[in-house]
Amino acid sequence: MNLPDAKMKEEAWEFVAPPCPYFGTCGGCQLQHVSYASQLKWKHQRLVECLAGIVEPSLVETPIASPQIWNYRRRIQIHATPQGQPGFYGSGSAKVIPVSECKIAHEAINESLNEVEQRFHEIMERRQHSSRLGFELTVFPGTPVEIQALSEDRYFLQSNPGANELLHEHLQRHFLALAPKRVLELFAGAGNFTLGLSQGAMEWTAVESDPSAVAKGKELSLNLKKPVRWVEEKAHRYLKNRKGGGFDLVLLDPPRSGAKLCMPSLVKMQVPMVLYLSCAPEALATDLKILKNGGYQVTKVQAFDFFPHTTHLETLVLLRQVGPGTI
Ligand SMILES: C[S@@+](CC[C@H](N)C(=O)[O-])C[C@H]1O[C@@H](n2cnc3c(N)ncnc32)[C@H](O)[C@@H]1O
Repeated sequence: MNLPDAKMKEEAWEFVAPPCPYFGTCGGCQLQHVSYASQLKWKHQRLVECLAGIVEPSLVETPIASPQIWNYRRRIQIHATPQGQPGFYGSGSAKVIPVSECKIAHEAINESLNEVEQRFHEIMERRQHSSRLGFELTVFPGTPVEIQALSEDRYFLQSNPGANELLHEHLQRHFLALAPKRVLELFAGAGNFTLGLSQGAMEWTAVESDPSAVAKGKELSLNLKKPVRWVEEKAHRYLKNRKGGGFDLVLLDPPRSGAKLCMPSLVKMQVPMVLYLSCAPEALATDLKILKNGGYQVTKVQAFDFFPHTTHLETLVLLRQVGPGTI
């Protein structure tokens, strides 16, 4: 779907002056030139279009807005220009655009940009080679901004804590209504959902391929006394090799590429309920098509706007097994 353009009068997008001086050159945001209401409308239409032929448009709810639309990102990757200034990749290019502020980054990240620049200069003075230089900056409450080299081990973290909380509330409601007893979670990360949703008598298996995420997940499960079974393995391999099964709900949250390799095993397992969280509508459509042909019916689609001013969208889909299907 095309980005809103001033020429598309019939779409009635509400155009606004983009507040960021780097808009158009920086590759980070694509939608600052339309109001937030228009952004949500555009994302809704994009999702309906992506899922056309697989999901009834009436089942696709309007995306839930981010509680904060500026300074919402607690994690961001910053790169160095050849002169050692901090910046972001340009729109559709590998050139780093220097920035002195990012309107969607947490205030603490913006305050640390001077230190980042200093560190870039120090590293550049010592280095003989000219390979790309970058850091990932993360804000954890009550501590200074964490500045990590991109080469360091860093497990996945949802970047928008406010939107993540809304998603949690939503998932809690699903879990209350569905009351699963044996849950399989694929692409579990460090336990963002695992720790909040697993309870007392539930049997919970969490599968994740990143060793640092699994280590963190195990540590947190132990601290919170959550009896989670952590499995460090690629999700599709786990599904192929698993013995037994007997899950009543599968929760999956794959990366942008989707979970195509998992789909044949999921269809074979015929788990009664599937909650699929996606960050890429196109990959979601591919996977849902396989599940639909495999005997599943989509019963609810709810998107969450984790990334205001960008084209990204998180989508939660509830599916129920309705009959035998084909892979
Ligand atoms: C979108 S993140 C979701 C993590 C977690 N649900 C959260 O909210 O923090 C996807 C996760 O899948 C993991 N991952 C990527 N490929 C995988 C695979 N083939 N098998 C298992 N996990 C994988 C990544 O390391 C990452 O932690």
